[in-house]
Order: sequence, then C-alpha cells, then structure tokens
Amino acid sequence: AAKAAAAAAASNQQQQLRSNQWAKSAGLRGRLSLDPGLLDFRPGTDGRVLDTVRLLRGRLAARHGDFLLAAAAAAGSAKEAEAMIKEATALEELPAETTAVAASAEVSAPTSGSGKKIVDGDGEEKRAEKGPGFEPDWSRFEGAFSKEMLPAEQGYEGTVSFITEVVDLLLEYLHRINDRSNKVLDFHHPHQLREALSHCLEIPVEPRDLEQILSDCKETLKYAVKTGHPRFFNQLSSGLDVIAMAGEWLTAATNTNMFTYEIAPVFVLMEEVTLQKMREHIGWESGDGILAPGGSISNLYAAMVARYNRFPEVKMRGMRAVPELAMFTSKDAHYSVKKSAAILGMGMDSVYLVDTDNRGKMLPEHLEQLIGLARSRGQEPFFVSATGGTTVLGAFDPLDAIADVCERHGLWFHVDTAWGGGVLLSQRHRHLLAGVQRADSVTWNPHKLMGVTLQCSVILLPERHIGLLQGCNGMQADYLFQQDKQYDVSYDTGDKSIQCGRRNDIFKLWLSWRA
Ligand SMILES: Cc1ncc(COP(=O)(O)O)c(C=O)c1O
Repeated sequence: AAKAAAAAAASNQQQQLRSNQWAKSAGLRGRLSLDPGLLDFRPGTDGRVLDTVRLLRGRLAARHGDFLLAAAAAAGSAKEAEAMIKEATALEELPAETTAVAASAEVSAPTSGSGKKIVDGDGEEKRAEKGPGFEPDWSRFEGAFSKEMLPAEQGYEGTVSFITEVVDLLLEYLHRINDRSNKVLDFHHPHQLREALSHCLEIPVEPRDLEQILSDCKETLKYAVKTGHPRFFNQLSSGLDVIAMAGEWLTAATNTNMFTYEIAPVFVLMEEVTLQKMREHIGWESGDGILAPGGSISNLYAAMVARYNRFPEVKMRGMRAVPELAMFTSKDAHYSVKKSAAILGMGMDSVYLVDTDNRGKMLPEHLEQLIGLARSRGQEPFFVSATGGTTVLGAFDPLDAIADVCERHGLWFHVDTAWGGGVLLSQRHRHLLAGVQRADSVTWNPHKLMGVTLQCSVILLPERHIGLLQGCNGMQADYLFQQDKQYDVSYDTGDKSIQCGRRNDIFKLWLSWRA
C-alpha cells in the first residue's frame, strides 16, 4: 500500500510538472497550477493546444470561460482559436459572446521577443512594446460585457482617468483628516443635511456623468465623520489604518464571495492562516472558526453552537426538542447576548444577568447562585458568556473563576472579547484575559482594539469543537457545496456560516497584521 501511495504521489508530481511546463509555455502558469482539476491532462506532442483542448473538453464544460481563455492564449490568432474551439466542442456556430472572449483573451497570448504579440481581427500580427505603453483593445470586450459599464463605455483610458481622480480624492481626504486644524465633523441635523445634499441625494432616472459622480464622492466625504482624525475618540474603535484601508479597496476590486474555495482560493487560505494565528494567541494549538459580520453575530454563533452541542436535535426540530433553557452573562455585558436569546427563540427572559463588582467585573459567586436559581425553576442552564473588556467600562471578567463554575456545572464557557481581544497581542496586558484558553468559544473583533477597518469579527472554537459550526449550520446545498469537487472540499468553509454569500473581511486583516 505504501509503495502504491508513493507511486501515485510521484505520478501526481510528474503530471503537475508537465502541466506546469505546458502552462508556462502558454503563459498560463498561475491559472493552471492553481487548478488541481487540470493536473492530469497531457499536452499535445507539438506543444500546441489542440490535443489538450480535446482532453479538457469534457471536464471544462462547467468552466467554459477558462477553457476558451486557455485555447485562445495558446492559439496564434483569433481565427485559429475559433477553429480549435469549434473542432473541440463540435459546435457549428459559436455564440457571439464566446468568440468575443476568445478574441479578447489573445492579449494574454504567449509572447516571444521583447514585444507583446497582438493579433488583430484580420489575423495580422503587430508588435507593441511591453510596459505602461501597452494598451489592450477594450473594444474587444463588446458583447461580453455591458456597453454601459466602465471600461467598455469609455475604454481603458476613461477608466484610468476616473479611478485616478478617485484616488486623488482619497489622498486629499487622508491629508485633510490628519490635520488637527480641521473639524472632526461638520454636523447638521438630518433636515439640514438633506437640504445641503438636495442637488445630489436622490437617485435620478437619467444617468449622471462621471464628473457628477466624482462630485457626489466629494460631497459625501465632506459630511462624513472623520474617524481617522487624531481627535476622533470612540470607546471601541478609532483611527484609520491605511494598510487595512488599502486591503479594503483591493477587496472591492476582487469583488468575490467567501463561500467556496473555487471562488476565493487565496482568501480562504488567508482565513485559515489568520484564524490559526488568532487561536494561537488564545493558547489553542488548533481549532475552528469563521469570520462573521460583527461581534453580535459572533456571539450569536457561540450561543447557537453551544445549544446545538448540547441538543443536536434542535437543528431539525427546533425548540420542541429542547427543555426550557437558561443562559448567563453579567449586567455589564453587551446587549447582543440577550439579542441572541431572542433570535434563537429562547426569549430574553431566559438570560440571567449576573451582578458585577464596583469595577464592572462579573461576580462568580452570584453566577453560581443564579445557576442554582434557574435549576430550581426547572430550567436547563447551558451557556455562560463572560466579557473580556466590557463595552462601557472596559472591565475584564475573572475568566478562570468563571471557567471553574462552568466546569462544575457542565456549562458552555463563552468569552466575548469583541473589544478586548487585542490585549492578547500585548505582553504587558494579555494577563487581563488569563483563563481565556479554557473557553469553549471566543468572540474577537479585529475592527476594535486591533484597529482594522470596519467590519471584521471572528468566532473561534478550540480543537475539541472542530466540526460543530459545520454540524450546526451546514445545509450541504448541492448547487454550491458539491462533495465531489476536484479539491479538498473542507476548504468550502461557507457551509459553516449562517449566511450564504459572505463578505471578504479577511484580506484587510491579514494585510494589516503582516504590516
Ligand atoms: C463586548 C462587546 N461585545 C459585542 C459587541 C458587538 O460587536 P459588533 O458591534 O461588531 O456587533 C460589542 C460592541 O461594541 C462589544 O463591546
């Protein structure tokens, strides 16, 4: 068995090597080497693409675009690409859109010599110098994209000048908000602001031109609260981390969804690496987790998985399958804990509020009393949420003492460090969260103390709870989370989530942390 495994690995490696060589010669290295589904094709003996096209045909039905790009990039001209595609797909007539994509893909055709090879519609070859002077012919995208969108509408040049002006605007904004002599906010009451913006607030029937759109951007920034201003203070977040901001811009440019590996390969890996880093700061060697839209939702996740862990049948049968439950948090905890109880159908009055001391820390003795009280009323205690950095006072609950109570009573121990989680990165202050490693789940918002741009929140679970998020939330929708994909489908992390589509909040966090 070991021999067979070794032989299979060697053969895989060889195939990978061959496909990489071919991909390199076709100028497609990055694209193909990232796609494990394409590893086992064999390039044609003449190094051209036709044989490969035949081999790829079946499996590429679902990835028509990539297939066409591959064919067109390896072909000498639009006509050749079209002929190859026609032959391989046995289509009499290619839809106009397909030909357009094939033709436009030629701009990335393999090059030789110093210039880039451009083949125009008539099959005539021209040479253009590489570098900033090289301009793709954007008109070739016509038919494939809406003509009313940039860059199709105004060509590449129009797009560059629009984006350049937006960047200028942003730079000017950054400059202005860092100048102490400027106001943090030019405040107006809603009716006044509506008046001030009356020339641009409504959405008109007729489209506005780009000049007006730029002016709209300017007006918007003018009245925004300058949260990056040195004199802007908020108890939870302040400042503007420019690296994270850059991450946010690029995130928008990639405009993707986080549900599956195939649509967000790099970002899914970044999420894996970053969540692991955060778990290590908590003191866990491994575990599970997911980014969530804010600390309230991370806390909701915690209560959900805690309930599912204790009563897995709740997923199918809802509250009919569950006794009357009780959860516990301090009087100074964030209101999202109560909200979770309401959302999860347990009701706000299932939440017991534990007394705090004069500095706002939960009193573990009172917690124990309330657990007894709930039991005496026939309720089933299951969940305690301690806070590591309360919203108003910044108090850190005594986690070790609370963990002891939870252990004695067999309760889920959640730690809400939405705000305070950042102290884990400080040698001087991490003692405030001593005991956090004993938690069953942790909420941590990098958009608060870590200064990452809004929004960015994480729910983390230790190794013993790996799989709970998937079990609790997984729906295995077969149009999205197919189990027979050609890669390790455990990287399709979206099924752990409450959402379907999920925003990419990881890139800015990863980028900012690396910086
Ligand atoms: C301790 C604590 N938990 C949870 C939250 C909720 O986080 P979010 O605003 O990201 O939903 C906050 C927000 O202030 C908080 O301070």
